[in-house]
Amino acid sequence: IQQLTLALLKPDICANPLLPPKIIETIQARNLNVLQQKPVLWSQADAEAFYGEHRGKFFFERLCGYMTSGPFMALVLSSPNAIKDWRALIGPTHPVRARINAPDTLRALYGLTDTRNSFHGSDSPDNAKQEIKFFFKDFDFKAHQ
Ligand code: CMP
Repeated sequence: IQQLTLALLKPDICANPLLPPKIIETIQARNLNVLQQKPVLWSQADAEAFYGEHRGKFFFERLCGYMTSGPFMALVLSSPNAIKDWRALIGPTHPVRARINAPDTLRALYGLTDTRNSFHGSDSPDNAKQEIKFFFKDFDFKAHQ
């Protein structure tokens, strides 16, 4: 049985046109299927809606500024353990910590700062569903049960 997750390749990754295809190869080499992928450009309102749970936190403005700074990529991934697999591949939220504790992860390799951490992955099946719907309104969940 396949699990779904939402992945983001954030604006710093997409600023270098060589990186998204390279990262997608890495994703597929780890046995995660790429079911959907598309470029996204957010308004401030889009960022505030997606990251609503972080409103009021000290990094909220910074986070929304980063995520509206340029185009990024949204992907739907699947595998038997997609949520854990993708989060294991991207590594800890904080790139500096990732470089120490998980040097083979994508955030260790590419992440810049606590905010500009290059990747996102859903943290639960419920959130994955909400986040996939946010980006892919017509996604056919029934076809992927
Ligand atoms: P993401 O996994 O997309 O979910 C929330 C984002 O907020 C996170 O990645 C980072 O970009 C940002 N973030 C989380 N914690 C911090 C922090 N302590 N300082 C700055 N930014 C953060």
